[in-house]
Amino acid sequence: MEFNLDRSIKKPLYKQIAEYLEKMITSGELSPDHPLPSERTLAQQFNVNRSTIVTAYDELQSIGLVVRKKGSGTYINTDIWGISHKRIPNWGRYVEDVSFLPHLPLEQKLLNDSNRNKIINLASGELAPDLLPSNQFTSILQEQPFHEHLGYDHPQGNEVLRETICKHVGTYKKMNVHPESILITSGAQQAIHLIVQCLLKTGDTVAIEDPSYSYSLPVFQSAGLRTLLLPVDKYGVNPDDIISLQKKHRIRMLFLNPDYQNPTGTKMSLERRKRILEISSEYGIPIIEDDPYSLTSFNGEIGPTLKSMDDSGNVLYISSLSKVVASGLRIGWIIGPKEVISRLSDGKQQIDFGHSIFPQWIANQFLESPYFDEHVLKLRRELKERRDMLISALEMVPKNNLNCFVPQGGIHYWYQIDAELDDYKLLDESLKNGVSFVPGILMGSKKKYVRFTYGRGEKQSIKEGVSRFFRALQSLDR
Ligand SMILES: Cc1ncc(COP(=O)(O)O)c(C=O)c1O
Repeated sequence: MEFNLDRSIKKPLYKQIAEYLEKMITSGELSPDHPLPSERTLAQQFNVNRSTIVTAYDELQSIGLVVRKKGSGTYINTDIWGISHKRIPNWGRYVEDVSFLPHLPLEQKLLNDSNRNKIINLASGELAPDLLPSNQFTSILQEQPFHEHLGYDHPQGNEVLRETICKHVGTYKKMNVHPESILITSGAQQAIHLIVQCLLKTGDTVAIEDPSYSYSLPVFQSAGLRTLLLPVDKYGVNPDDIISLQKKHRIRMLFLNPDYQNPTGTKMSLERRKRILEISSEYGIPIIEDDPYSLTSFNGEIGPTLKSMDDSGNVLYISSLSKVVASGLRIGWIIGPKEVISRLSDGKQQIDFGHSIFPQWIANQFLESPYFDEHVLKLRRELKERRDMLISALEMVPKNNLNCFVPQGGIHYWYQIDAELDDYKLLDESLKNGVSFVPGILMGSKKKYVRFTYGRGEKQSIKEGVSRFFRALQSLDR
């Protein structure tokens, strides 16, 4: 809050300072969690005698707004808020001491970095602006009138969009699905959240891939779930590892991202898919198949999803338009047995009363239009080109040429670095150098890895982004 003492008016200086402090307290800019600034600090700040500050604080104490504690300073009075007898909540405790956990500090640093829009972004798990179909959306909006009902939509999501999704997954993923088995969600993220909230309970054990996107999700921890880790190699997770975990702990649910896995970019082999489905049936472990990336397959081949091979109803399938159309649309879906979908859609109703009609409408128009196929073809070409650009820029640094896995689809590259470095410092230094990436530690237990998202990289800046990263790496690795 901007404040300057006005020495030209009659109002005494102590009064002006007392009023300023009062505003800072009542607006919440000064928190009850910390002592108020000392008399000496304020005297220096306002260039007044210390006695002026003492009088200002006396004034605030007399109306019950602050309390003075001998030897420890002046505090906001949290019990009785001045003469109006209102109570001041301790917001610090509210935001920290809760069951729904915030992001990890490193994740927050990435999300909240104030230079976010200025730096070369190789961190966000989404498409670069020039890969988003913005022009096609503009054309649709110009060509097609919007006549939809503007009340609450169907609890499972717009019926027309669900029918279109049935056609979509039928064409691209050979899945035979009925609209009643679909719930539209706010991206795959909400789908995961709903599954955790509605189908699991505190103390349940879930198995997730290591490294994985799920690893960084506080959603599991907030729900009081125990997570077990399944290492990912170039063919995905090893079915034998699932069996050994199952023998020691009872796995309630298995979370897998078999196609162009985030962050490794690996694709699970067909043999492993078959074996994992057998294990799922044998032990009765439901599988959550999270598939936002399979459509990006560079050569256009999309192998069978677990869901399309599942004849016993063990798989809940999640997908989303975030990585193939636009993350800002917030359109995702879950496909599963009707009773499960109905439970999840009840959960979604409780959270947000169902999905907004606008993104559902435009998503439907786009999926139904000839623009969609053209867009997917262009996207695959562009992503492959950006993958190659990233890899050749990384290969220019011979010391770090560590033979990383080359993804054949998706948007991420999991890169091993040849240095033992603190992830936080490396990220900090890279941001100072003007590039972002995701530190490996955020995605799993393996150290010495970073995730670059070439899909987010703009063509003209990928090479420069890599050299900024190495500048940061070298300055720390001395
Ligand atoms: C494997 C995976 N699942 C789910 C999501 C969530 O995506 P959205 O909610 O945007 O669909 C992501 C995003 O990075 C992801 O990589």
